[in-house]
Amino acid sequence: MYQLLAYIKYWLLSVDEHSLHSPFLYKCYTEVVKSKSNTRDPAIEELRKQLLRNDTIVEIEEMGAGSRVNSSNSRKISEIAKHSATPTRFSLLLLRIIQQYDFKGIVELGTSLGLNTAYLAKSNEEVKVTTFEGSGTIAGLANQHFEQLGLSNIEVVIGNIDQTLETWLATASPIDLAYLDANHRYEPTIRYFELLLPKINQQGMIILDDIHWSKEMNLAWNELKNHPQVSLSIDLFEGGILFLNPEIPKDQYILSF
Ligand SMILES: C[S@@+](CC[C@H](N)C(=O)[O-])C[C@H]1O[C@@H](n2cnc3c(N)ncnc32)[C@H](O)[C@@H]1O
Repeated sequence: MYQLLAYIKYWLLSVDEHSLHSPFLYKCYTEVVKSKSNTRDPAIEELRKQLLRNDTIVEIEEMGAGSRVNSSNSRKISEIAKHSATPTRFSLLLLRIIQQYDFKGIVELGTSLGLNTAYLAKSNEEVKVTTFEGSGTIAGLANQHFEQLGLSNIEVVIGNIDQTLETWLATASPIDLAYLDANHRYEPTIRYFELLLPKINQQGMIILDDIHWSKEMNLAWNELKNHPQVSLSIDLFEGGILFLNPEIPKDQYILSF
């Protein structure tokens, strides 16, 4: 019910290119957000189909919103693929962003089976994707998928992000794009954002998934889009883009996607 009301509000408030006056935003919207320049990757989509049909049961250490951290759980692989994966059209948008802005250092919080990670990594060979996953079982499956897809530019950091992120960031190279799709709660979202912020390049972005999934996530989104270091924010309902470049005029948009 919450998500339905949030969608109605988004639908009523969202605008398109006719309402955009900033040349930067107009170009970003027409050439990146709404562009159809890239298409589904046949190998990744074939893997998605196989996973959606795979009823093998795996024991996972479940983490994130709505679950007890580190509790043990049995899940069908098909269920994980159905409920966790970023929709392909959003993965394609992330891919277009990486290509348009020539991003190289990518961080993803929340690997799951690695379908979205694969899209991030296939953008080009110079891209280095570091993806974080709490469940060792799921991370193992994701690593198998990367091997199967011939992707060698991905590193999976296994363990609870509450512990692994800060340690990893201490020696990490600068980041161009961070995609947060793990722990969909208010407090960790804000905490991970603050941890990542000093490492993001000036031209970089932080993208949050599921910004209207719950009141908590909505609250986190509202707070972060007003963060003093965020210049432009774009709400696409499925996710939200936060630009950090201070040269972009400060503004907030809800755009149809
Ligand atoms: C929504 S799924 C990620 C989907 C993935 N980005 C994709 O599009 O295929 C969220 C993942 O984050 C992991 N996760 C949630 N909270 C976590 C935490 N605190 N530490 C590590 N991983 C976590 C879950 O195990 C789950 O696999």
